[in-house]
Amino acid sequence: MNKINHFILCCLFLLSLGSCRSETKQVDMLLYNQDDLFINSFYRQIVAMAEDSVNLTVHDARNSQILQNETLELRLREGSDLMLINPVDRLGAYSVIKRLRSENIPVIYFNRQPLHKDLLLWEQSWYVGARAEQSGQMQADLVMDLFGGDPENLNEYDRNGDGKIQTVILKGEQGHQDAEIRTSEVVGSFRRNGFKLDILVTEVANWDRNEAYEKMGEILKNFGDDIELILSNNDAMALGAISRMRQSGVFTDSNGNGRIDRMDEGWIPVLGIDGIEQAVEQIQAGYLYGTVENDSASMARAIAALSQAVLEETPLSDLPFPVEDDKYIWIDYQPFIMEN
Ligand code: GAL
Ligand code: CA
Repeated sequence: MNKINHFILCCLFLLSLGSCRSETKQVDMLLYNQDDLFINSFYRQIVAMAEDSVNLTVHDARNSQILQNETLELRLREGSDLMLINPVDRLGAYSVIKRLRSENIPVIYFNRQPLHKDLLLWEQSWYVGARAEQSGQMQADLVMDLFGGDPENLNEYDRNGDGKIQTVILKGEQGHQDAEIRTSEVVGSFRRNGFKLDILVTEVANWDRNEAYEKMGEILKNFGDDIELILSNNDAMALGAISRMRQSGVFTDSNGNGRIDRMDEGWIPVLGIDGIEQAVEQIQAGYLYGTVENDSASMARAIAALSQAVLEETPLSDLPFPVEDDKYIWIDYQPFIMEN
């Protein structure tokens, strides 16, 4: 047997024993919090895309930046070829990126956007995500349509007929780009289009369903019948608010057609962002008016494609997703409602 054939046979043998490990790249995915409803469905899609081509290990920081830093150090010691990071504190990316640069390990951030100047610290660092502005604008568009489209002549959803929309805002985590920008942009979009919002209260509920459920109890007590609209920075908080509203009897099938819908008296539009499965169910059931899809399927595909290119050192210009400024892959949001 010549040498080449012998080598191939050896390799096949080692592969069948599963010991050609050095060939399989090690990828580590660091999540800020695996229990976050959106992140939970998002990371599963990334895992599904990785299949057998790489060895992908998932680490949950349970909302602790300290834990995430420890995991990072451990993985650097044990050997990693690529980090996929959903940071707990996006401002912490500064030291993390410098650390990865010193070890020559590439990194793809997702969901929580590091500052641009931090990404510039290391040429092997990227961000895959969506533009928060877009989601705020789309949320506002859905509401303006629902209220008839003419700011000078709001329809029956302006319940007290004062020409303004009495609004409750449920905000995500303070300082998170999606919480800050979605909130300012949804409000700004109404103003730019001449719609008058009367913001009754803005409550921070940290993306969390249970926290929103609790806060909604107070909000209903304080503002009850005045509320004409609930804008939530994400679906999970919208779902928490809805379950509290259902308990308080906000939604009733007043016209007796066997379902909850926007024709029912006292029905209040609630809007989320993300398009998670549970939200789509609530839209079908008539409780949630609409959402803006945060397209995690496309983001997972982009992360998988970018990972492969980085690991195989192929040109990023060949990717099916454009890489902007050598740093960013942007995925569009999509508005989502259903006909009544
Ligand atoms: C947002 C998402 C939220 C939450 C947050 C976590 O993009 O809309 O539901 O998952 O990310 O960083
Ligand atoms: Ca009103």
